[in-house]
Amino acid sequence: MNLFRLATFAALFGAAAAAQAQTEADALFANKICFACHSVTKADFKRIGPYVVDIKAKYQGQADARAYLKDKILRGSAGVWGPAESSVMPANKVTDAEADLLAGWILTQ
Ligand code: HEC
Repeated sequence: MNLFRLATFAALFGAAAAAQAQTEADALFANKICFACHSVTKADFKRIGPYVVDIKAKYQGQADARAYLKDKILRGSAGVWGPAESSVMPANKVTDAEADLLAGWILTQ
């Protein structure tokens, strides 16, 4: 395999891996019941928690955003979004790796 073909293969494989991660995160968002409290975009109606696009907007400039969100997904959250958001998210039943995947996914919505 020459270098060009190797680079093409690596690029395609990278894209496929990224697409795979997106699909997995989409499935987790549904299976772990996140969607019961969060809509992803404003096209959907407002649920008890903040829109996923608003979470992204709030944290996307923060260097440790992915680690911060992962921790919140694992442990739950209270009081950050104020009374308008009902303010409490209980700890979610996700593994460390699932929380990390979801945190990364939120930051790409
Ligand atoms: C029972 C309702 C409920 C469920 C289920 C839920 N959330 Fe939340 N979530 C909330 C509420 C309410 C807030 C706002 C909490 C606050 O103000 O600190 C929130 C906040 C968040 C935040 C932002 C935390 C911060 O510090 O700004 C993230 C990220 C998040 N949720 C992700 C998820 C993911 C991923 C799932 C599924 C694994 C999930 N949530 C399931 C209600 C829920």
